[in-house]
Order: sequence, then structure tokens, then C-alpha cells
Amino acid sequence: MAKIQKIKGVADLFEPESTAYTHMEETARRVFSRYGYAEVRLPIIEKTELFARSIGEETDVVQKEMYTFDDRKGRSITMRPEATAGVLRAYIENKELQAQADIAKLFTFGPMFRYERPQKGRMRQFHQIDAEIIGSDAPEADAELLLMLWDYLSELGLEKLAFEINSLGCRDCRPAYRQALTGYFQNLDKGRLCEDCVRRSTTNPLRVLDCKVPSCREAVKDAPSINDHLCGKCRSDYERVKKLMDAAGVKYVENHRLVRGLDYYVGLTFEVTSGDIGAQTAVAGGGRYDGLIHDLGGKDEPATGFAIGMERLALLLPENGPRASDFYVALLDQAGLDAGVKLCRDLRSRGLAGEMNFAAGSMKSRLRAANKKNAAFCLMLGGDEVQSGQVAIKNLSTGDQWSASLDTAADSIIQRREQS
Ligand code: HAM
Repeated sequence: MAKIQKIKGVADLFEPESTAYTHMEETARRVFSRYGYAEVRLPIIEKTELFARSIGEETDVVQKEMYTFDDRKGRSITMRPEATAGVLRAYIENKELQAQADIAKLFTFGPMFRYERPQKGRMRQFHQIDAEIIGSDAPEADAELLLMLWDYLSELGLEKLAFEINSLGCRDCRPAYRQALTGYFQNLDKGRLCEDCVRRSTTNPLRVLDCKVPSCREAVKDAPSINDHLCGKCRSDYERVKKLMDAAGVKYVENHRLVRGLDYYVGLTFEVTSGDIGAQTAVAGGGRYDGLIHDLGGKDEPATGFAIGMERLALLLPENGPRASDFYVALLDQAGLDAGVKLCRDLRSRGLAGEMNFAAGSMKSRLRAANKKNAAFCLMLGGDEVQSGQVAIKNLSTGDQWSASLDTAADSIIQRREQS
């Protein structure tokens, strides 16, 4: 029969990769909880409207990349392309959470879906670690978020990554900038822009700055900079964040072309980039999105957050070796089976990790299996050992071999392990 293959752009994660994912998640739990974040687990499917209204109709994500389908009653459903919209939807619906404190700090992780062209670091099903602070417009909240992300990356041993930061201006100062950009594009030879950007240059000119098409990148080189259009508050907030980053000794570069791929941002935006992971350089990205909660039907609360791409982060982590275990019980003949089952239970009850083959085999093949399992000690057991009550134990890295009674095998291994 023909085998069924996985869908393009998705991955099966086996060890040691799956261990790396657990490590990334557990590190996030540990670091984020120091900052007062609580974990939320959210649905993967949401009403399509949630994403159209938050991410923006003009974005590539909404126009080209969403996995959208009608359910059996004809309602349009989308598999989440990112986590922020879902976190906010859940927050708005959860009155208890809103009543708990002025500021809600939430984090979540899981799979996201975007129909993009798969390549290194870009998948159709990928995973994000997402953190959001709801309820504060203080620049200190943005700075704290950046420092938490920095702590997280440092804890993973990735202090060399670069932060890029920008301010996109608020709903007060952005219109003037938008107008300046529209003016710039009006005077530009339209042949220099891709088809999408010709449209965007009037409907959503900021999006043109984010276009990856080389001719568009070239065409925006002389476009007006947001930095020249910030209002007093946006400028002072931006300066304050930089000052707090300087005080904490966290390095960043300013990139006034950084607009991000989603429409909901205002004020501070940022990315963490790496030149070591191929064409997809953004490992994490985020920023402030005051106004979005209101646009989704909630109170007018300011908020800021980020998401880390786990596939890209995994590319930067040192590779884990194969998982090691403490013991392997090599069954030499079937007469040792019952004693082997009991021995495994004894060893595990003492905190040792390992396993047994359930079928007997030659000593040579069993030792090969024990080595493949990366076991520290191999215990060899058959009818003779059951009769004598003694089991042969081999230290697989030194080759030392000795025997111990079945009852004291665990003690013997623990003792030898402590000595080495
Ligand atoms: P984003 O920049 O669209 O932001 O995605 C965040 C990160 O997810 C990216 O920097 C990248 O590492 C990873 N990522 C995105 N698409 C893919 C893909 N196709 N394959 C692999 N990794 C990918 C957001 O999603 C915002 N919700 C972040 C945020 C949270 N802003 C405020 N709060």
C-alpha cells in the first residue's frame, strides 16, 4: 500500500529536537513566572473575523496565508496564524481576569499556521512562545518586556542576539506620517513597486516598507522616516525605553524601517534577529498595540507583547546528544523474564531510568542494544542468574564488569555511579 506522507511545511519532532522544544518551553515558564506572568492555553481555531479585524485585511497573513475553512454550519473558521488575537479575545471574554488586577500578564505557547513558502526556519505549522502585558501604557512596561525576553534568551545561552527597535507612532501622530508616505509613493515611478505594493501605497502605505520584494526594498530607501514624525509622547516613551535598556546593559540597534508584518502595532516595535539561521532572520518580534483591545470589543486598554518563533530559536540552540539512560536489562534467555520485570521496577523505584528488551537474544546483540540506548550500565540476566540470585553488571563506558545480588543491584549501580 502507498504510504501516507505528511503535509508540506509541517514537521514531526523526534528526540533530541522534541527535548529542545520542551527545554525552550520550560525555560519560558521559569523566566516568565519571575516576572509575574500566568500561563494560558488557548484554542487553535477561532472565528476568521478575529484575525481579519486585528492583524489587518491588508496584511500578507490575512490576504494570503491563513488556513481558513467553513465548518459544517458554514461559519468561517481560521487556524490561528499567531497568538495575540486569541489571547485578547480570551481576555476580553474573561471578566474575572480583568477584575483581578490593573495589569494582566499572560503567556502561552503552541502551534500556529501560515500558508507560506516553506524554507529553513519558515514552516506552515510552526510554534510560538507568546507573552502579552495588558493594562499599562508605561514605557517601563515595554522595557520590562524587552528585558524579560533578554533574560530568556540569556538563560538559553543566546546573549549574542541583536535587538532591533523602532517606534511606529501612535494613532495621533501616525496619520501625518502616513500622509507623508503616501505623498512619497505618489511621486514615485509605480514601475518600481510590485503589484501588491502599488495597491498598498494608497490603502496601507506602511505595509510597503515591510515588503520583501527587492525592487520595493530599493524603492523605499529614500522614503520619509517615522522617526521624523513622532509626537511628543511617542518620542519621550521611545527615549525612555532606550534609556532603560542602556541602564540594564542590553544592546539594541535602531531600525526606523521596522514596521512588522501585522497592522495592529503602535508605538514601540522590536525584533530579535540572527544572521545564523538563513534567510529568515527574525527569531522574535513584538511591540505595543494600544487600541486593539477596544477594536476587538473590549475596554480601551493599552497592551504590549512579543512572540518567539521556536523553529528559529531551535536552530540557534546547541544540539542535544542522544538521550542517556542509567540501565539496560539484557535478557539472555526467557527464564530471566519475570526476574527482569521485577528488577526494572526496583531500579526505577530508586530513580534510575532505563529499560529491558522483552525478548531474549545473544549477549552480543543485547550489548549492542544497550549501547544504542546510550545506557550507562547493562545488567545481564537469564535462567542461570535467576538460580544463583546474582546478576552481572557492566559499566558500558569503562568496560568494568562485576556481579551483585538481584536485590542489591540498584544500590550497586548507584554506588558505582557516585564513585565515577
Ligand atoms: P510575528 O513577527 O508575525 O509576530 O511572529 C513572531 C515570530 O514567529 C517571528 O519572529 C518568527 O520567529 C516566528 N514565525 C512567524 N512565521 C513563521 C513561520 N512561517 N515559520 C516559522 N516561524 C515563524 C507575531 O506573531 C505577533 N503576534 C507577536 C506579538 C505578540 N506582538 C505583540 N504580541
